Amino acid sequence: MVCLGNICRSPLAEGILKNKLPLDRFKVDSAGTAGFHIGRSPDHRSIEVAAQNGIDISRQKARKFTPNDFKEFNKIYVMDHANLADVLQIASTPEDRNKVALLLETVEVPDPYYENEEGFKTVFRLIDQACDRLTNKLQNL
Ligand code: 4NP
Repeated sequence: MVCLGNICRSPLAEGILKNKLPLDRFKVDSAGTAGFHIGRSPDHRSIEVAAQNGIDISRQKARKFTPNDFKEFNKIYVMDHANLADVLQIASTPEDRNKVALLLETVEVPDPYYENEEGFKTVFRLIDQACDRLTNKLQNL
């Protein structure tokens, strides 16, 4: 799960998907395309909206997406078109490029960083619905 800062959207996506998939079969992680928040905990608004939904993301630490992630993961879901362009730029083979998709398939998960709590609730709902679809799809692979 990839966003820009790895403090708002992708930590939620990591926490939500981990809560739905059997973790003995799937490895789920998140990263940001930018490095400004490396080592930081998720934004308190993401921690709060996750906690309101019974998910603890408070122990996650932000990291930057690296080329090695193409080796470690079969699927890379990005939140918006800027993330998509940045991750595709790092991809070095057609196989790598094929791993990358927008989490919401055709639309973006909006960046809530400059929004209020409502924005974070919307982001939670969008990601949660996407992860339900993804869970069905991945479990049937
Ligand atoms: P994220 O949100 O990409 O969902 O983690 C952002 C976090 C930080 C910034 C922008 C978006 N920032 O500009 O610092």
